[in-house]
Amino acid sequence: MRAADIQSELTQVLVTEEQIHAKLEEIAARVSADYAGKDLLLVGVLKGAVMVMADFARALPGPMMMDWMAVSSYGAGTRSSGVVQIRKDLDTDLHDKHVLIVEDIIDSGLTLSWLLENFASRGASSIEVFALLRKPDAAKVEVNCKYVGFDIPNEFVVGYGLDYAERYRNLRDVAVLAPHVYS
Ligand code: XMP
Ligand code: MG
Repeated sequence: MRAADIQSELTQVLVTEEQIHAKLEEIAARVSADYAGKDLLLVGVLKGAVMVMADFARALPGPMMMDWMAVSSYGAGTRSSGVVQIRKDLDTDLHDKHVLIVEDIIDSGLTLSWLLENFASRGASSIEVFALLRKPDAAKVEVNCKYVGFDIPNEFVVGYGLDYAERYRNLRDVAVLAPHVYS
């Protein structure tokens, strides 16, 4: 696929690569201060959080551990079903760990609130959330998210790990997907 073809499927860039990287540095500085002297475990939610995890982990100056979880609440469409399934569980025992869940986006909040409830009984010392993007106007449930990158409008976005039907994850910016692509 040519770059020009992809451009015609996007309506607007919402967050640029440069803005993302500046924000990751800022949040990494906060996180490293907040977790000084603690065993920090980053838990990335596959697959959307792959890019943010890779860049965020490298922005952290101190030691950390990394694990991954795969859940699904979406089919090939653009709406949350609210039904969450674990596709891949953690390999790490959460006992006495300080867990920071790294998410690409909070949309309805259903996935994260389910995940937080699921983690609650696993014995972690603390559990917090870092979401690169959040859509305040789409919230169906309140999620306690300590670190937020950018609040964005209620539009379906792709890029920087976010996909539509597995495409667009490799775009460097976060952009709005043109409605003609999915309607
Ligand atoms: P909820 O609604 O449960 O969403 O907060 C959780 C997951 O749904 C995906 N998601 C999106 N993916 N563009 C995407 O490419 C979007 O605008 C979008 N909104 C939600 C994402 O995987 C998120 O973790
Ligand atoms: Mg996700």
